[in-house]
Amino acid sequence: MDSTKYSLADFYDIEGLDMIERAKHFYEYHQDIHKRHHNQYRRISLSGSAPVIKVLDPYTEIEREMIYMASNDYLNLTRHPRIIEAGRQALEKYGAGAGSVPLLGGTLDIHVQLEKRVAAFKGCESAIIYTNGFGSNCGSIAALLRENDVAILDLLVHASIIDGCRGTHVEYFRHNNMNSLEKTLQKCKDKYRTKLVIVDGVYSMDGDISKLDEIVNIAHSYGAYVMVDEAHATGVIGKNGRGTPEHFNIEGKVDIVAGTFSKALGVVGGFVAAKKEIIEYLHYYSRSYMFSTAQTPQTAASLIEAMNVIEDEPILREKLWDNIYYFKKNLIDLGFNIGNSETAIFPVIIGNDVKVREICREMHEAGIYVNPVQYPAVSRKLSRIRMSLMYNHTRQHLDRVLNVLEYLGKKYEIINQSGNEEVEIA
Ligand SMILES: Cc1ncc(COP(=O)(O)O)c(C=O)c1O
Repeated sequence: MDSTKYSLADFYDIEGLDMIERAKHFYEYHQDIHKRHHNQYRRISLSGSAPVIKVLDPYTEIEREMIYMASNDYLNLTRHPRIIEAGRQALEKYGAGAGSVPLLGGTLDIHVQLEKRVAAFKGCESAIIYTNGFGSNCGSIAALLRENDVAILDLLVHASIIDGCRGTHVEYFRHNNMNSLEKTLQKCKDKYRTKLVIVDGVYSMDGDISKLDEIVNIAHSYGAYVMVDEAHATGVIGKNGRGTPEHFNIEGKVDIVAGTFSKALGVVGGFVAAKKEIIEYLHYYSRSYMFSTAQTPQTAASLIEAMNVIEDEPILREKLWDNIYYFKKNLIDLGFNIGNSETAIFPVIIGNDVKVREICREMHEAGIYVNPVQYPAVSRKLSRIRMSLMYNHTRQHLDRVLNVLEYLGKKYEIINQSGNEEVEIA
């Protein structure tokens, strides 16, 4: 099979083939991708998250160092000594696991402390915690919206939000487009009971910030509520790293603030913060909370400390932003299309899946770990390389990435050809 002629979408369903036959076709496709060194998924890290990581190269099976441009661990809190120590102490005090689901014996005092800490950090009355961000979005939306309700979604919201809407009506508006939002609200006005507008604070594939202040005003004027997923905003934007509502100075005005603990907070888990009545309701109706064992105690303890660190050490965020400004300016000066990126996530839009695969292969060979993002994750004309920054990437790391990108950008005719100098790739 020639994998360059296919995408993941082609194996989603295949007429007349049962699950085993379908999986066999996909397996063939996957093997061909591997043979071409086009498979940059599930590369094995031997060292954990840091600006430079050790990777077991899937093609040579040799251990090597790579500049890691694919982490959501923006503040590198995965490695912060205070956060590690807090987890270690909780592990010793409570043991390795919580022992049960939260409603039936699994709720520890450290979980309640975390709920209170998140609510305070997000400026909300109350909060519920989940074992992952996918489950917090999916499980909370499914509990809040029923058959007679509607979710009004930005076209680029995360998959966990879309999956949470399976039991309700869904309407989409054009990405961050306020006219489109208003038209959609107008259409839904007298048709549904609860209307919930759901957006991401920072978009995970584009790095742009939602116009949350305008969205809240418009939605409320139509009697709709607003939910924001703060996955990539928490710890990164807002004066104190509290996220998009803080960035727009509208804390307390967003009806539901959700997010994950797995990005800038450097651990794992998800949360929803809102009025106490909503949170109490979710304890009893959110299936991904009720029917799933509570978070490990060391996770909860590390997360409390992660929020303390974000407040105590603004220097981490300042350094991250220095890197963001530097990298962004240089990518733009080189002539790359980085869409509307405004945060630590950088798409380099190429618009050709095969070129994306080839460039990612060459970047891998050059010791730079980036992610390909192709159809169907984005439309074909927007296929891209996705990179993200950490506060402790050095100028040398970033310059090396920029040099290699410049060389490849010219080679694959993504940017202007002039002054095409050879860069040492291997
Ligand atoms: C915008 C967004 N929301 C939710 C999630 C899910 O979070 P988690 O990884 O904690 O399940 C992710 C990423 O993984 C994300 O990018």
